[in-house]
Amino acid sequence: MTFTGAAIVAGVAGWPIKHSRSPRIHNYWLRKYAIDGVYVPFAINPDGAHDAFRTIPSLGLAGMNVTVPYKETAYRAMDEVDRWAQRLKAVNTIVVRDGALFGANTDAYGFLESLREAHPGWRADAGPVVILGAGGAARAIVAGLQEEGAPEIRITNRTPERSAALRDEFGAPVQTLDWERRGDALDGAALLVNTTSLGMEGQPPLGLDLAALPADAVVYDIVYVPLETPLLAAARALGNPAVDGLGMLLHQARPGFRDWFDTDPEVDQVLRDHVLEVL
Ligand code: ATR
Repeated sequence: MTFTGAAIVAGVAGWPIKHSRSPRIHNYWLRKYAIDGVYVPFAINPDGAHDAFRTIPSLGLAGMNVTVPYKETAYRAMDEVDRWAQRLKAVNTIVVRDGALFGANTDAYGFLESLREAHPGWRADAGPVVILGAGGAARAIVAGLQEEGAPEIRITNRTPERSAALRDEFGAPVQTLDWERRGDALDGAALLVNTTSLGMEGQPPLGLDLAALPADAVVYDIVYVPLETPLLAAARALGNPAVDGLGMLLHQARPGFRDWFDTDPEVDQVLRDHVLEVL
């Protein structure tokens, strides 16, 4: 990788940060498009996270991605935010504009783009959506699906208070269902999304009976280690279309790259393979 003193500098802030895949993604694009730029990991100490974000313009950085545990801190440090960040009260992409901090949240965008990439004919109004889990990822995905016009969003979560909180926050079209009877939630569904960590390497399996799932329902697992989770394998065995979680990771990165480096980057198979090498 070569960059000069005139290089555009961006990066990703988190704590810890060494497991982040973002440097690999952005530096692949910088090489591919021969851009004089660099994207670095920033391990931001918890004591000074808010101040660190406020310092971004004076450091001359183009901006940063933000990951765990700082998306809410970053939100509070911004001068201006986009409607997704406003809604989710969390920022994952910071762009310096005229010396001010602009915060965006591209998680919902990344989810919707990856779904459309895998299934160009997908429509939010095709039928009920089932969301497994009620954490931060579920919240962004529910916001995206609601905005796209999903008519019915069924959320089921081990801790019912968290799914009830999402129902209270988003209102219609969200319904909550009992985690113990999650298989029943699949009846008539057009899309099933796993946002829990179940099925991830080192985690227990999801344990979901797909008997009630319609044959054409799309099954999306945001887990990407392994890429083919037991849920996706079971869905494919039934003939259901299946979408892995790598696409969301790659597509959520595009808006930041576009704003910092003035190039709309492509998610291609070489990039997928490049990131998969380290998963
Ligand atoms: P993220 O921000 O990635 O969504 P999170 O907020 O920690 O992460 O959410 C993790 C999700 O996985 C939650 O829905 C969690 O369920 P709880 O709300 O009950 O904690 C779910 N999850 C994690 N481990 C689980 C397990 N062993 N059984 C069922 N659900 C689990």
